[in-house]
Amino acid sequence: MSIIVTGSIAWDYLMRFPGYFKDHILPEHVGNLSVSFLVDEKERHRGGCGPNIAYSLALLGNRPKLMGAAGLDFEDYRDWLESVGVDTSLTAVYKDEFTATFTVITDQAHNQIASFHTGAMARARELSFHDLPVDEIDWVIISPNDPEAMVKYAQECRDLNIKFIYDPSQQLARIDRDEFMESLEGAAVLTVNDYELEMAKKLSGMDERGLLQHVDALVVTRGAKGSSVLTREEEHHAPAAKAKAVVEPTGVGDAFRAGLLTGLSRGYDWPTTLKLANTAAVYVIEHVGTQNHHYKLTEFIARYRENFGDSPILTDLLNGQNDS
Ligand SMILES: Nc1ncnc2c1ncn2[C@@H]1O[C@H](COP(=O)(O)OP(=O)(O)OP(=O)(O)O)[C@@H](O)[C@H]1O
Ligand SMILES: [Mg+2]
Repeated sequence: MSIIVTGSIAWDYLMRFPGYFKDHILPEHVGNLSVSFLVDEKERHRGGCGPNIAYSLALLGNRPKLMGAAGLDFEDYRDWLESVGVDTSLTAVYKDEFTATFTVITDQAHNQIASFHTGAMARARELSFHDLPVDEIDWVIISPNDPEAMVKYAQECRDLNIKFIYDPSQQLARIDRDEFMESLEGAAVLTVNDYELEMAKKLSGMDERGLLQHVDALVVTRGAKGSSVLTREEEHHAPAAKAKAVVEPTGVGDAFRAGLLTGLSRGYDWPTTLKLANTAAVYVIEHVGTQNHHYKLTEFIARYRENFGDSPILTDLLNGQNDS
């Protein structure tokens, strides 16, 4: 099974300001702003939707290929991804760019000032499925990335008859109707969270049934309430797996998508696929960072059983490790 993950590749820099922004920003002078915050903590985390999804896919026993654009500061990131079982042979490194960088400063009141520097990510539009052995590709996910790249990948997947999941996530806030409809058309799955579903409906002017005229399945994540799927024939809901601690939710959606891809690529039924994806997601919430969770497949299987009982797919999951 060959799964290709497309999406942003980023470094996340998280800084803590031991004060309050409001004490340093004078509202009457915001038209002439010049402030510098002396921060006392800085962490760097591996991020980006592409590696987040690929990492959890590898934990689940797959060998995903990460197709994306990174920059000159990617070398140790690449080594790490390879060491955990992600194939980075389709990741292009542009030495004249930095890898996309998300920077956020958080103050004592949890206010945040953030920026996202696109960097090499803007070059993702230069990559193409036409350069790949198409017969070997089983599934593709099109996750948040350079906007032009996302539209292009969807078009290519349609032209080359490759099954794809369209995962616009936060990009829904910035795309227009034409871009949305063009990317969506012919997707095997559109996946969104419940808030994004409302945005998608507003943007398209369609309800769920209308969207299902353009995609085969609509998968909706609902935070602590779990996830559901709607197709033209079926409707299922799976409750969330129980979190041992709720530490930091960022990245749950990406880990969910790794479970979703695992279920789809192995041909599991919808209820099982949703339970698998909910189990994959819950680990992320228990850690800071989007790739700091870890489990062995045997541990994952035990966690699935604790939450959802036994299933024949659990043996298949164990046997299917790295079978590509
Ligand atoms: N509090 C929670 N407890 C257990 N599971 C959770 C919880 N929150 C989320 N999940 C799991 O993660 C999945 C995705 O969550 P959610 O709908 O919040 O995604 P999201 O809003 O796209 O998240 P993000 O974009 O921050 O990664 C849910 O379907 C559920 O399985
Ligand atoms: Mg999300």
